[in-house]
Amino acid sequence: MSRIVYVNGAYLPEEEAKVSVFDRAFLFGDGVYEVTAVVGGRLVDFAGHLKRLDRSLSEIALAPPLSHAALRAMHEELIARNGVAEGGVYLQITRGVADRDFLYPEGAAPTVVAFPQSRPVLEHPCAAAGIKVVTIPDLRWKRRDIKSTSMLAQVMGKQAAKLKGAYEAWMMEDGFVTEGTSSTAFIVDSDGVVRTQPLGPHVLTGVTRRAVLRLAADQGVRTEERPFSVKEVFAAREAFITAATAFVLPVVEIDGVPIGDGRPGPVVRAFRTLYIEEALKS
Ligand code: PDD
Repeated sequence: MSRIVYVNGAYLPEEEAKVSVFDRAFLFGDGVYEVTAVVGGRLVDFAGHLKRLDRSLSEIALAPPLSHAALRAMHEELIARNGVAEGGVYLQITRGVADRDFLYPEGAAPTVVAFPQSRPVLEHPCAAAGIKVVTIPDLRWKRRDIKSTSMLAQVMGKQAAKLKGAYEAWMMEDGFVTEGTSSTAFIVDSDGVVRTQPLGPHVLTGVTRRAVLRLAADQGVRTEERPFSVKEVFAAREAFITAATAFVLPVVEIDGVPIGDGRPGPVVRAFRTLYIEEALKS
């Protein structure tokens, strides 16, 4: 059975879901996106994703084409029509269709596309054993806080990771890990402090990141938004990533070196459990 995809107000079988070759995202990567997890047929932290979407749209001077209520209804319709129990919904909003010209076109209507992807979330195949990461240079532009559809550096990075037998690549800049190609990077340092990059233009404002930092505060776990080097990862007790449909995944090896005892540690396991409990309530 083919999926039902949303394109500019219509729900279409995926074979019929099409956009123009003149779409600005196709020609320039001129668009933004969100991925929201689904568990038990329900959206996880959709409010957090809407907030970031608003910001991404405003940073590229694109007026929101749909209200929050309309976006939620559309996501729920896609989940229902496709019978999605677990996975995610991808949403992309572009500057629309216009003849190729760098300047923002006047009067072009934004293109809105969304589709679901069914996959295990609660029983993520990497949750029990953890993942391996490799480090790569961060080749991206300098506005990584905008969730832009221009993802070439991340596509290349993820492929490089796969070729080295790893699941994710951690991108390096000025000697520090910025983030994963599609995830936020964390360590539990040698003092037991949960650390991740502070927010700014150099990283994406992870929705899952925010939830995990809040859960840590609730649990009385010390956190610090401070960059870490690979040397600090080598010395860390634990490491992990967060992302919408991955939730919290242990990192057990970096560049071929085991982290801690090379197995998922207690802190990451606790965060995964707490995050799942919260997601099931959403
Ligand atoms: N990626 N950093 C980057 C570069 C990302 O692409 C993502 C998410 C994250 C985690 O953000 P969040 O917790 O809000 O999902 C961090 C999505 C899932 C993707 O591109 O598929």
